[in-house]
Amino acid sequence: MSSPIESGRASILVVDDDAQIRALIVRLLRPMGHKVVEAATAEEAQEKLRAASPDLVLVDMQLPGRSGHDLLAEIRSDPRTRLVPVVMITGAATHETKLKAIEGGVTDFIAKPFSPEELAARVHALLELKFVTDALEDAEQVIISLARTIDARDRYTYGHSARVSLYAGLLGERIGLQGRILETVRRGGLFHDFGKIAIRDAVLLKPAKLTAEEYGEIKRHPTEGRDLLQNMKTLLHAMPVVYHHHERMDGSGYPDGLSGETIPITARVTTVVDVFDALTTARVYRGALSREDTLGIMVDEVRKGWWDGRLLDEFRGVLATLPEDDERIRRLSAGLPAS
Ligand SMILES: [Fe+2]
Ligand SMILES: [Fe+2]
Repeated sequence: MSSPIESGRASILVVDDDAQIRALIVRLLRPMGHKVVEAATAEEAQEKLRAASPDLVLVDMQLPGRSGHDLLAEIRSDPRTRLVPVVMITGAATHETKLKAIEGGVTDFIAKPFSPEELAARVHALLELKFVTDALEDAEQVIISLARTIDARDRYTYGHSARVSLYAGLLGERIGLQGRILETVRRGGLFHDFGKIAIRDAVLLKPAKLTAEEYGEIKRHPTEGRDLLQNMKTLLHAMPVVYHHHERMDGSGYPDGLSGETIPITARVTTVVDVFDALTTARVYRGALSREDTLGIMVDEVRKGWWDGRLLDEFRGVLATLPEDDERIRRLSAGLPAS
């Protein structure tokens, strides 16, 4: 991949209601080889954002109608544009409005009047940043494709990890997890069974009861998963999920036999939804169980001391708002992204 700067292919969206300022910026950036798209209002900018997928956005803080802050919020909330650097061009910005922009995720400020050299230098630096984040996003996509290969190997568990990730995220939200820890349960769900990659087909896909030895091999998957993924920094936080998702509350699980709240919450959340998904989807040795039968079995297993009963109760609440034919579940089971 070549840098957008070297290739002169960067696309820059300039949003300012002052036509003279826009013309000045265009005159400055076009000779640098960039494609410059203009918008006079936040509404117009939104349309252009969709069409132009810019590498950088320069936006006037004070626009007529919807403000630069509103536009920034929209850019940050859309997965397609959330990582695009946004520079706010400020006239008479107060401490408060700047703070608001920083909280909203602005990348940089440039004060009016700006010198051409300053603008050129900022644009250059931020396009380099965009180039790096693009490379990281590509790496992220590779990691997610890698996670999909686990599900793709076994038609009976197709979509399992993606559904576990969806359920775990919803359960995590319901119990008040936020930010990084919530992202961890989502990502952990996607990777929890990654270690199955190291398990032989003859064991993993065996259409009959496993021998004790074969079951022992299956039980290695949390450790295999940890060993395979432990050097990936982006998965560091998800590691307790990968390693501990087969622990039980009474200490009878594996690999470490942890019990109660010594089992990380991210792992306990995943365990509940993992068991639920396994029971509600067909396996080679049995059909799919209904939600009601599954919850009945799981309540018994909570009594036996296996799962976190409080989390199972909360998960009932999630299921009450999630119909069985929910579009996201249907899509994930077909191997498509949830949205
Ligand atoms: Fe597992
Ligand atoms: Fe699983």
